[in-house]
Amino acid sequence: MSVGTETGTEHAVRLDGVSKTYGKGRTALLALDDVSFDVRRGEFVSILGASGCGKSTLLSLIAGLDPLSAGTIDVSDHRVSLMFQEPALFPWLTVAGNIEIALRMRGVERAARRERSARLLDVVRLEGFGRKRPHELSGGMRQRVALARALAQDADVLLMDEPFGALDAMTRDILHDELERIWRERELTVLFVTHNVREAVRLGDRVVLLSSRPGRVLKEFPVEQRRPRRIDSPQVAELASAITDELRAEVSRHGR
Ligand SMILES: Nc1ncnc2c1ncn2[C@@H]1O[C@H](COP(=O)(O)OP(=O)(O)O)[C@@H](O)[C@H]1O
Ligand SMILES: [Mg+2]
Repeated sequence: MSVGTETGTEHAVRLDGVSKTYGKGRTALLALDDVSFDVRRGEFVSILGASGCGKSTLLSLIAGLDPLSAGTIDVSDHRVSLMFQEPALFPWLTVAGNIEIALRMRGVERAARRERSARLLDVVRLEGFGRKRPHELSGGMRQRVALARALAQDADVLLMDEPFGALDAMTRDILHDELERIWRERELTVLFVTHNVREAVRLGDRVVLLSSRPGRVLKEFPVEQRRPRRIDSPQVAELASAITDELRAEVSRHGR
């Protein structure tokens, strides 16, 4: 991964010719092929594609968890945090403890940890839930904790991998509003992976559509509609249906 040379760059994330092959020889699998796009600082980008097209691979490369096979990814001096569909909280720790552990890993001292975690619980609207254990919370609340923990890492780039995919529609709707609010308040840059077209349009400044495997950038769709948006608004539905047509055509080209 190359390191940004220009300071004050407009881009939080820059991908240039990124390819990823898993394995070697006859069993080698090309997951991503020559993916290039930029994400502006403060931008909210939805990444959409059929299952197995390399969306999770893309985020793990940006997070630096996996080596690239070709190309470069530049996140300059941004701090990146990855959030999954399953919130992966420590079950033996309280809600506050799960947030504080992220602070401890950053060397924040005990008294400050308490205060910061309480404030972060306010941000995700879980004030008063600090002493609960994860199993006492609903799925939506657990994702709020995971979001607070990501913020505790002081990340300014959030990589979200279908974070609301396991939630019911109503809870997801509310979390869309909350995420949008936090993104704005904290001036975050978000890369939001989903296979839900309406969700991609509801949230994104732009939707990047990936092809079926190997993942390539098929098309990009700017979302012009003003915020706040509603997932069931006619404007969201209209763009979503145009994108769905592209996605359908792509999936049928690949016979799956
Ligand atoms: N660690 C791995 N080793 C081998 N193949 C993998 C690995 N991770 C993902 N793949 C393969 O790469 C392709 C893309 O996977 P993934 O990025 O998880 O897709 P998506 O998130 O879009 O569903 C799939 O065919 C998957 O089986
Ligand atoms: Mg995935």
